[in-house]
Amino acid sequence: MKKDIVCQQEVFGVIFENIVSSPLEVKTKALAIFLFQGKPLDVSFKPIDQALDGLINNLLENKEFRGEEEETYIIPTLGKLKAERLIMVGMGKEEDFNHDTIRKAAAYLVKAIKKIAIQEYVAMMPEFVNLDEKTLARSFVEGTIMGFYDFKIYKTEEKEKNRKIETVKLMWSDNSKIKKANEGKKVGEVIANAVNYVRDLGNQPANVMTPSRLASEAQKLSEEYDNINVKIFSLDDSVKMGMNLFYAVAKGSNEPAKFIILEYNMNREDLPLYAIVGKGITFDSGGLSLKPSEGMESMKYDMCGAAAVLGIMKAAAELKLPIRLVGVIPATENMPSGSATKPGDIMRSYTGITVEIVNTDAEGRLILADALGYVSKNYKPRAIIDLATLTGACVVALGHYASGLFTKDDSLAEKIIKAGEKSGDRVWRLPLWPEYYEKIKSDFADIKNVGGRPAGAITAAAFLSKFIVNNVSWAHLDIAGTAFVDKERAYIPKGATGAGVRVIIQFLLDEIKIRNRNKSV
Ligand code: BES
Ligand code: ZN
Ligand code: ZN
Repeated sequence: MKKDIVCQQEVFGVIFENIVSSPLEVKTKALAIFLFQGKPLDVSFKPIDQALDGLINNLLENKEFRGEEEETYIIPTLGKLKAERLIMVGMGKEEDFNHDTIRKAAAYLVKAIKKIAIQEYVAMMPEFVNLDEKTLARSFVEGTIMGFYDFKIYKTEEKEKNRKIETVKLMWSDNSKIKKANEGKKVGEVIANAVNYVRDLGNQPANVMTPSRLASEAQKLSEEYDNINVKIFSLDDSVKMGMNLFYAVAKGSNEPAKFIILEYNMNREDLPLYAIVGKGITFDSGGLSLKPSEGMESMKYDMCGAAAVLGIMKAAAELKLPIRLVGVIPATENMPSGSATKPGDIMRSYTGITVEIVNTDAEGRLILADALGYVSKNYKPRAIIDLATLTGACVVALGHYASGLFTKDDSLAEKIIKAGEKSGDRVWRLPLWPEYYEKIKSDFADIKNVGGRPAGAITAAAFLSKFIVNNVSWAHLDIAGTAFVDKERAYIPKGATGAGVRVIIQFLLDEIKIRNRNKSV
């Protein structure tokens, strides 16, 4: 089914296996162990230390290896162990241990492995940490797959580099752990592969990742998964339905715009319905409110919300989540031209609100307004969550370490924040108080699309909230700072990061758990 390279990780196809063995028995090119900083050697490592004549303890005592985050140390075992090498991986201080520690350690291990050309390694699971086997296996697999990622398909020389590793084994102390570990492995594989898929979509340049290409990616998902349907509306169709804000952005571009709808499990009316909406600006030049040329190339990432929606749909189908899910992607370029929207133009939205477009570079909120109006009117989901690289102001507020969360629903906020912490795809809430709405009042229309510089991320979210009808619960994730980065860290590569996938999938998994719990009482 894989027609062309979309997700490199799947092409390289690392196989994960949960095995039961012991550090003295396991035969491998490299055995990895995980250690906390400043902690005496765990009992489970004592046999290894003895076999190596006390070398590990020595290294710890001499502070040659400290166990700090990011630290790895490779020891050739010279026949003293059946494993040819021992790789020590730091997890940082035990008191700082959190849900992300294992993911990061797994990714730093990948970096060490990449330097030595081996096809296979075994990681001894740190069963002494405060995580159940399922979560431990899931986190390790996620960190490994996300850590392997790089985008080299246009690098003529480096294309083959990643093909080296074929098998990664997770080693456990006894059989009772394997069932849960296998469950965790599967979930981790699905989620991390979806993240890497989203990264691939995001990293593609705008001449490749056009609105039509986003539509064909959606189409491919529907061919691959029986229970995903796709509907694709042209710009003409969208205008006939009344989506004039979407039209206002699309009309300046020569690339055909697409309004894409994906539905998962839609015939299962017994299942609760959720909706996700993603900003699909495949290139944001700013339109007539043209952006400065410096850094404009990064506006190819302005479709990362759309990519996240595709990744979430794919993961939901692979995990066979017992929910219904609708994904909506308004996809277009934002370009200046003779047919482009002019600052000051007024348009009527899908829901009937008139909007004065004072700045054509605030285009994301325009296309999302019609998409949010469309979903909240035509579907009655329990919640709509939109994902958008919406404002530079959000990057100023939160940097690259958390997505902005905006919602009036406190319970939804709490759930999304928790899902963010668990998944490592963190969000931070900002307010939507009535005062902010003053800023988007227009002299000539119902509202205008920009509320000035102060609180730019909030006024953008306030604008979006105006287009939700039927009182549907709604949350907005501004992923402008998290969707792409220019400095790599642990399992986050340079370029597109896949932000939004992990937090939303975790949110949905938690929702399913809550529902099952309520059903059984
Ligand atoms: N796509 C941008 C936001 C953005 C900025 C994403 C930086 C990622 C990194 C968005 O369409 C935009 O141009 N927003 C303007 C809004 C302004 C005109 C009110 C911005 O943030 O400057
Ligand atoms: Zn813009
Ligand atoms: Zn934009």
